[in-house]
Amino acid sequence: MKFFIDTASLTQIREAHALGVLDGVTTNPSLMAKEGISGDEQVLKHYVDICSIVDGDVSAEVISTDLNGMLAEGERLAALHPNITVKVPMTRDGVKAIKTFSGKGIKTNCTLVFSAGQALLAAKAGATYVSPFIGRLDDVSTDGIQLIEQIRTIYDNYGMTTQVLAASIRHPMHIIHCAEVGADVATCPLSAILALFDHPLTTIGLEKFLADHRKAQAAH
Ligand code: E4P
Repeated sequence: MKFFIDTASLTQIREAHALGVLDGVTTNPSLMAKEGISGDEQVLKHYVDICSIVDGDVSAEVISTDLNGMLAEGERLAALHPNITVKVPMTRDGVKAIKTFSGKGIKTNCTLVFSAGQALLAAKAGATYVSPFIGRLDDVSTDGIQLIEQIRTIYDNYGMTTQVLAASIRHPMHIIHCAEVGADVATCPLSAILALFDHPLTTIGLEKFLADHRKAQAAH
């Protein structure tokens, strides 16, 4: 399973990249706004900056909601760097845009997916990735992981090549469950990736090894 980081923070992207386990980045307009990135020029430069840190797909989301706007915006984003993946919302125009981008060899990520039917449409249109938002489903008492499993089954039934990119991940168990049910990618906050490192027995075990080593050295 690939690990993407879900942030527009260059500091966090650098930190995740330095761990050696980062395969890509997803952003969205809220995450860009959180970093204070606004205005066409600044937004485009920010995507180029992200692409210079990570050697993997970087999702850049369109703001337009009509087909022509999405197509123009997506073309502009895709031209920035070969790793740019145009992120398009799950709407009728969004699906049409994905179909057009797919015909032109432009990578896409269909975002704001909350049902298996939506995921089926995205795959039929030729999306590179589909992003089911598992955390937001859990927030409304619906099992997000079950949706990942359902989409996995449907795509496998028909050999659909769209990659299942589990999004809206909140904690390390989401990552583990995504891996268990066969998500292709998990896009995570840095905190969830870092939490995977932690186990009290690792900490205690390492302290004991080092203490024993120090004792042996002192006795030598
Ligand atoms: C997906 O690519 C989105 O950026 C993201 O995962 C949304 O997560 P949230 O529900 O934490 O906003």
